[in-house]
Amino acid sequence: QDGGRDAPEEGEEGGELIGRTAELAALHAVAETAGLCTVWLGGDAGAGKSTLAEAFARRLADQGWLTAAGQCPETDGGAPPAWAWSEVLRRLAAGRPPADDVAARLAPLLTDDTPATGRFLLARAVEDYLVQAVRADTRLLVVLEDVHRADEETLQLLRHLAVRLASAKIMIIATYRPAEAADHLGATWAALAGRQTHRLDLHGLSDDEVAQLLRERSGREVDPVTARTVAERTGGNPLFVCETARLIVTDGTPAARALPPGVRDLIRRRIARLPATARTTLRDAAVIGRDVDVDVLLALDGVDEEAVLEGLEAGVLTGLLTEPAPGRVRFAHVLVRETLYEDTPGIRRIRLHGRVFGALERVRPGDVSALGHHALAAATPSTAGRAVPYVVAAAEKAAALHAYREAESFYRGALDLVDDDHRRLDLLCRLVGVQANEGNVMAARENRERAIAVARRLGTGLTRALTAYEAPVTWSIQPDRQVDEAFVAAVREALAEEPSSEAGEEARCRLLATLTFELEGHDEGCEAFSAEALRLARKLGRTELVCLALNARYFVLLTPHRRAELEAVGRELVELGD
Ligand SMILES: Nc1ncnc2c1ncn2[C@@H]1O[C@H](COP(=O)(O)OP(=O)(O)O)[C@@H](O)[C@H]1O
Ligand SMILES: [Mg+2]
Repeated sequence: QDGGRDAPEEGEEGGELIGRTAELAALHAVAETAGLCTVWLGGDAGAGKSTLAEAFARRLADQGWLTAAGQCPETDGGAPPAWAWSEVLRRLAAGRPPADDVAARLAPLLTDDTPATGRFLLARAVEDYLVQAVRADTRLLVVLEDVHRADEETLQLLRHLAVRLASAKIMIIATYRPAEAADHLGATWAALAGRQTHRLDLHGLSDDEVAQLLRERSGREVDPVTARTVAERTGGNPLFVCETARLIVTDGTPAARALPPGVRDLIRRRIARLPATARTTLRDAAVIGRDVDVDVLLALDGVDEEAVLEGLEAGVLTGLLTEPAPGRVRFAHVLVRETLYEDTPGIRRIRLHGRVFGALERVRPGDVSALGHHALAAATPSTAGRAVPYVVAAAEKAAALHAYREAESFYRGALDLVDDDHRRLDLLCRLVGVQANEGNVMAARENRERAIAVARRLGTGLTRALTAYEAPVTWSIQPDRQVDEAFVAAVREALAEEPSSEAGEEARCRLLATLTFELEGHDEGCEAFSAEALRLARKLGRTELVCLALNARYFVLLTPHRRAELEAVGRELVELGD
């Protein structure tokens, strides 16, 4: 089944694509080019990005292209890392199953419960699969939806593939909202600059197109004055126009001219017209997310099955919901879900997250990410203790998939929930680790300071706090190339106190590497510190310690006259990495 074919929106409402001829022509022109090409399709919420991408995908599918779409999660947390790629790959794999060896390597993205491998290895697996899937006779279109919400893992895979598969017959369309893209797409754009990358910004529909859409969606004649008023007020935003068309159906044409409500007000009115039980069902569903597993909804404490099903039917009939697959419903637009969610008072929202958490525990106990998300959103001072393990499990899963930003937000959330110092120290050290991996050096250093303060207060765990920066160091981590004397003194003190046991040797190895990273470029002693760290690591025979020590060694050797030694260290690191 080609992913582009189970498009929910278009067709369902009986509408054909209106306008967008220039945009389609531009997309077709890009599709003609050789090699991998990327199109960044920008537009506000409701601008028609998904509709255009789906219509284009259908056209390409008719020409024999393989197409698949994946959605970045539109709610905070709750979805596994790199989810958009998981969706794409699951769709493709259903039609073109990967060879056994590739299937095994791809498992973290194809199944829900497979532990992650390294980021790079996973990217290589995706690459190998796509090379297999895109055979001589086919071309592939991948649509990544709403990448302004993409996690780092999704973007990393995109960058990896764009570079490694530069000559493959693949077209990637990434839709996004420019106003929400902020800084985090910048790095990806920079990395892909010049690599067959195109931008396409979706503008509003013209006055005539707005009139046509109004007529089509309302099933009524709409006079030119009304059409022009609506076009002006909505800026030609198709979602806004469609909502206005519904208003015309229920309240008549003059209503569309009379008051200038925003798109959320229009959605709100539509919801208000539903029976109270249906509203309740939709509100519960909105807490689950944009995509709703009906089994979870039915498993909520105290719901009446008949009422839920009636509510969902009402939602589908009024076009607020669609049914993308059996057993699933989906809010027709993310703004519908947001409006319902944001209109629910905070106190009730917390309770609802708690009920969703309970339902998930019963029917989807393996969904670690969603459990963590709802546990966090549901936590109150009295339930905090119970929530923390779930939040930590979600953070661990995210970190294992290298989705460090997600892991970071889970750890931050967990930190707000704990009130004992042992847990706080543990969480702070983990937070330092994910921030270090993310490359957020300053935040990692600050939290390391906090961890050290907690350890001192506890009178234990100081070495762990001092060595919490557990990530490959590829560039100096000294702020402004200044030495933090107090920190260095603390590390030296801890070194002196470690016992000569095996645990003490591991601790010394880590402390010596830490000392090297803190002092490189400032202190001749680094030569000896890093050499001793490496000796200890080899003696203990632990690969991750050897890598850490080699990493420290690398910084000492990073000078022109030690080129040969530097290369040997680099080679060994690469070999250990394989
Ligand atoms: N060119 C178009 N012709 C007809 N309807 C459209 C068009 N573009 C968007 N729509 C309608 O507007 C609504 C919002 O569009 P959508 O593609 O979901 O926006 P976005 O993905 O940019 O948020 C959908 O209901 C869709 O059917
Ligand atoms: Mg969309």
